[in-house]
Amino acid sequence: MANLETLVALAKRRGFIYPGSDIYGGLAGTWDYGPLGVALKNNIKNLWWQHFVTGREDMYGVDTAILMNQKVWQASGHVASFSDPLPLRSDLESEPRSDLKNPKSQGLTLKQFNLMFETKIGATGDAAITYLRPETAQGMFVNFKNVVDSFHPRLPFGLAQIGKAFRNEIAPRDFLFRAREFEQMEIEYFVKPTDWSEQFDYWHQEMLGWFNDLGLVTTKLHELEVPDGERAHYSNQTIDFEFDFPFGRKELAGLAYRTDFDLKNHSQISTVDLSYYDEETKERLIPHVIEPTFGLDRLILAILTNAYTEDELGGEKRVFLKLSPQLAPVTAAVFPLLKNKPELVAKARSVFDQLKASPYQLKAIFDDNGNIGKRYRRQDEIGTPYCVTIDFQTLENGTVTVRARDTGAQVRVATDELIDHLNKKAPISVVDGHRSASG
Ligand code: GAP
Repeated sequence: MANLETLVALAKRRGFIYPGSDIYGGLAGTWDYGPLGVALKNNIKNLWWQHFVTGREDMYGVDTAILMNQKVWQASGHVASFSDPLPLRSDLESEPRSDLKNPKSQGLTLKQFNLMFETKIGATGDAAITYLRPETAQGMFVNFKNVVDSFHPRLPFGLAQIGKAFRNEIAPRDFLFRAREFEQMEIEYFVKPTDWSEQFDYWHQEMLGWFNDLGLVTTKLHELEVPDGERAHYSNQTIDFEFDFPFGRKELAGLAYRTDFDLKNHSQISTVDLSYYDEETKERLIPHVIEPTFGLDRLILAILTNAYTEDELGGEKRVFLKLSPQLAPVTAAVFPLLKNKPELVAKARSVFDQLKASPYQLKAIFDDNGNIGKRYRRQDEIGTPYCVTIDFQTLENGTVTVRARDTGAQVRVATDELIDHLNKKAPISVVDGHRSASG
């Protein structure tokens, strides 16, 4: 398995992820996504959105504001309860709660430290305090009534959102794993109170299915039923999905039964009735909530951990990312065999243009830098499934070489069959949004 330093170095060298504010010495807990990182991230977001939102009839996608009225965070319980214990002895201040074994026996006192970032709205003087949202969930609860009024959905139905969340973590660490600014992909699924257990089981399986679609190795994925007393303040039942990261088994995503905690509290504090009228039973009720939540950055770290492979090819050691074609930032890299032969470069450009203009979302790049061996290695390291080389035979008979990343095996393919070949070998989503296949 890759160690963390190797992944951090590869991610930086190849343009996936850079430390935040790097030229100023960084800012702990922040990371900037480079061109390949943002491509990988967008591929995951698009797949998630297709799978959980556009691929279903009962899901409503939203994109809500990061800044919210401070009362939201009072109603949600975050002002009172979203805190970690902070040890007061200064030499231990950087240790997070989970690393502090029995602090009292070490003679330490713990102070509760709220993890929300406080900010001020408006001009100094009459500025109102609010917070950068620590979860995207609340944007969905406060829009529950709006969506019901606009679409009149029948229970069960869900709201889904992808967006940034912020937590002033006491000790950010382990690359993307514990950051102060990160992204979540969350669903708030509203159900009849009596159906919660069945729906909880359903979403449990849905989450496992999604991890499987992503190609995460199942032996690295584990489940933890979070015991009483250790769950978040809003949850009556929680399953943590854990992953074997390079630094150990840690939480990747979660499934929580939030009961009617949020809607009930928002109804009370806002004094807006957030109950739901059930046409079938002619009764009003406060729906209960099942919440599948995915940390996007942790998923990216799990995917990179999962994909990192070292092997030997042609007697040489190599590193490659075994990313599925649907996740890889680049699907096919196009090379002219030699940079200084204008006829090869022109032909390679036309093949590249052909791939770019294809009706598929084929992510192609052009590369004529260095010798072919070096170009292959570069593409291997960023997980490109296919390299297409234009050589002298291409000029004679119109065929190109297609080299597969995992095996290094090469086949010749006619240029006018190239898109079909890549598409068959590397199923990719088509532009109109229908999933063609998941590989
Ligand atoms: N709305 C529920 C909620 O926020 P959570 O378990 O606190 O639940 C959900 O967070 C997910 O967000 C986690 O499973 C994790 O993947 C991700 N996450 C939480 N804190 C994070 C951090 N500091 N850095 C990166 N990802 C984080």
